[in-house]
Amino acid sequence: MALCGKVSAINLQGEIECVSLTNKKILLGIGGGIAAYKSADLVRRLKERGAEVRVVMSQSAQEFITPLTLQALSGHPVASDLLDPAAEAAMGHIELARWADLFIIAPATANIIARINAGMADELLTTCALATSAPIALCPAMNQQMYINAATQANLSSLSQRGLHLWGPASGSQACGEVGPGRMLEPLQIAEAATAFFAPPLLAGEHIMITAGPTREAIDPVRYISNHSSGKMGYALAQAAHAMGASVTLISGPTALASPVGVTRINVEGADDMLSAVMADIAQHSIFIGCAAVADYKVADIAPQKMKKSSENMTLALVRNPDILASVAALANKPYCVGFAAETQDVEHYAKGKLAAKKLDMIAANDVSVPGLGFNADSNALHVFWQDGQHALPATNKLTLAQQLLTLIANQKHA
Ligand code: PMT
Repeated sequence: MALCGKVSAINLQGEIECVSLTNKKILLGIGGGIAAYKSADLVRRLKERGAEVRVVMSQSAQEFITPLTLQALSGHPVASDLLDPAAEAAMGHIELARWADLFIIAPATANIIARINAGMADELLTTCALATSAPIALCPAMNQQMYINAATQANLSSLSQRGLHLWGPASGSQACGEVGPGRMLEPLQIAEAATAFFAPPLLAGEHIMITAGPTREAIDPVRYISNHSSGKMGYALAQAAHAMGASVTLISGPTALASPVGVTRINVEGADDMLSAVMADIAQHSIFIGCAAVADYKVADIAPQKMKKSSENMTLALVRNPDILASVAALANKPYCVGFAAETQDVEHYAKGKLAAKKLDMIAANDVSVPGLGFNADSNALHVFWQDGQHALPATNKLTLAQQLLTLIANQKHA
C-alpha cells in the first residue's frame, strides 16, 4: 500500500490508503537539554508510524542520554563526532544530511538554535543542519527566561524567516521548577507534527468542524450527567484533518486531551453550549463531523445550590437535548454532514436509521460493545454507510482510522 507522500485514495483492492511516515527518512538531532531523555520515546513514536530514523547527537546531549540507548531504539549507529573516521566510512556527515527527508531537532536548545542561526559547523549536529537540503523542524526546549530572551526570539524569528519550522514549545512547569514557555512538545505531538508535515493535502481548501468528547449536563453546581467519551476519536479526526490540509474547528466537550497542533478548539460543557458554538460558526464550514457523545437528555431544572440528601430516593426530571447533528443537516446551506452512531446491538440497522432520519451524507457505525474499542480506548473500528455504498474500516489505532474515514469523506464528497 503506497502511503505517506502519495495521494491518499481508495486503491483498486478497496483498501484505504492513508498518511503515515512509512518510507520517510527522519534524521533526529538531539541537543543537550534535560528534555533529551524524551528523545528515546520520540524515536519509538516515529518508528511506529513507519519512519526510518537515524540519530545525531550533540556532545552535551550525551550527558543526558547515552548513544547506546538511541542506537538500540533506532536500529542504527548514532552519529556524534564530526571527525570520526569510522563513522565517516559508514555514513559520512554529508551523506547523513543528504539522506534525510526531514531533519527534526529535539530538543533544540537555546545554544543549538543560536549556532544554527549563525551557520556554525563546529560539531556534527549543526554541520548537518548546514549541509542538509531537507526541511528542518526545531522543537525548542529551554528555561522560560532563556526562551523569552530577545536573543533567542531573534534567532528563532530569523530561522523561521529562512524556512525552518518551529514545532512548539509548549508552556507549563519546567524541570528547573519555573513555569512558562519553553517545554519541548511531547514525543507524540512531535510525531504527529511529522505525520502532518508529510500528509497529502487531500482536504486542502476544506473547512471542517468536528464535535468531540462528551457533554456534561449539570444537575447542581457540583454534579453532572455525562458518559465515557474521552474525546480521542474526535481529536484524532481533528489532527488527521489538519494533516490532510483542512482548516479545522474542534468543538470539544470536557476532555483531558491536549489540543492537536494547528486546530482551532472551542471548549463547551453541555449540549446547549455545543449547539450554540456549532451554530455560531457552521456557515464557514464545508464539512461537519459529529463525533461527540452528546447527552440525549439534560436535567429539567438545574438546582442553583448543591442538592442535599433529604430522602432515600430521588427522581430527576430530564428533558431532551437539541440534536446538534440533525440541526446542522437541516440547514438550508448545509455542509457535508457525517454522523457517528454508537451502538451496542443491531449496529447496522440503527446506524442506517440515523443516516436517513437525520438526513446525513454519511454515518460511521461504531459498535461500542467490543472490548478494547470505542469509548475511551486507543483503538476503534467503524462501518461507514452512505446512501448507495458502505465501507468497513477494521480495528486500528484512532489516528489511522481517522485518516481512513477522512479519505472516504474526501472521496465521497466529490463522487
Ligand atoms: O471519545 P472516545 O472515547 O474516543 O469515543 C469515541 C466515540 C465512541 C464517542 C465515537 O466514536 C462515537 O461513536 N461518537 C458518537 C456517540 C453518540 O453519541 O452516538 P449517538 O448514536 O448517540 O448519536 C448519533 C449522532 O448524533 C452522533 O454523531 C452524535 O454526535 C449526534 N448527536 C446525538 C445526540 C444529540 N443530542 N446531538 C447530536 O449531535
